Amino acid sequence: MIFQSFEPKEKLLHGPGPSSIHPRTLQALAKPTIGHLDPEFIGFMEEIKELLKSILHTNNRLTFPVSGPGSLGMETCFVNLVEPGERVLVCVNGIFGMRMVENVKRVGGIPLVLETPWGEAVQPENLRNFILDQTKEGKISVCALVHAETSTGVLSDAAALCQIIRNHTDSLIIMDAVTSVAGVPVYMDDWGVDALYFGTQKCLSCPPGLSPLSLNERALNKVKCRNKLVQSWFMDLVLVEKYWDAGAGFTRTYHHTAPINLLYALHEALLLFFEEGEESVWKRHQVTAQKLKEGLKNRGFDYLVNEKEQMPQLHVVVPPSSILAKEAEIRAALLRDESLEIGGGLGIFFGKVWRIGLMGNSARIENVDKILQAIDKFL
Ligand SMILES: Cc1ncc(COP(=O)(O)O)c(C=O)c1O
Repeated sequence: MIFQSFEPKEKLLHGPGPSSIHPRTLQALAKPTIGHLDPEFIGFMEEIKELLKSILHTNNRLTFPVSGPGSLGMETCFVNLVEPGERVLVCVNGIFGMRMVENVKRVGGIPLVLETPWGEAVQPENLRNFILDQTKEGKISVCALVHAETSTGVLSDAAALCQIIRNHTDSLIIMDAVTSVAGVPVYMDDWGVDALYFGTQKCLSCPPGLSPLSLNERALNKVKCRNKLVQSWFMDLVLVEKYWDAGAGFTRTYHHTAPINLLYALHEALLLFFEEGEESVWKRHQVTAQKLKEGLKNRGFDYLVNEKEQMPQLHVVVPPSSILAKEAEIRAALLRDESLEIGGGLGIFFGKVWRIGLMGNSARIENVDKILQAIDKFL
């Protein structure tokens, strides 16, 4: 067998992530690799941290990219912030909330699950009542929620939910912002979120494999005062902190070899975001979403989520019956013949919906036209 360089064809990435990478970000990947403890690299890491703090609207000292995908960001939060026997409230309205429950169980916590039907946002009033009921039974140590549920296309009102948690408990708040950051506003400190992670491959249009994470001092104190060592050596934030945030007067110590070139790409993607300006990026997501929505509705697609709870970066739609009957085949044909990737349904929506992403660099009016023209060939 003869092996050759892999030469993938360029595709229009309009699934639930990854989105298409800006050429400048792609070029950044090809810059010369330097050592992860090189003084030049250490200064560069500080810049990444500052840019991440700005995109999350936080002053948290410990804000850095976890070397791994969004799932590792999620797991890092639970493994550090939940001790065995602690009661953890999880808002579940889709697959990623379910994964949080799985994480709670695996670290020995007791999940208290607030179920919301898939395709609906978590209702602040339901959360309030659930907290009041659950606090009668004992302390709630942590509350966790998913801001933008990628399995259903629902955007919950994170500010209102965090406010309810703050008003009725002193528990830590973990928020999954994997799909929300850079597509819609996220104000970590104003909302009172203690720990947050996101994914680089969604609205920031950076290659997958990094999960920026931010922890405030309250959350970090909990990690430092744990009764039991964090069960994962790799994810133990007390150790990782010594590499990413040594503190004044300390030298950074090796923890693991950082994914150097991926960090170049993250830095470039963050620069692109701030060059365009956050308000403009959010607006671009709104404008392209509106155009896609009109086009899809005109073609007989129905939205799964009600208007108020839809996110602009991911459109979860029920295709007209002629398409639905052969939805997997048609998606395969779109990928093969039109180089257009769109996502299928997950979990209970498997085979029932399409998930069409307009994330980051893929959220462009000309892309909307291409998506609609490609779909027209199958109507
Ligand atoms: C809301 C949400 N959380 C977590 C993840 C997991 O991220 P990753 O696939 O990068 O591990 C995803 C991935 O799609 C997601 O959409």
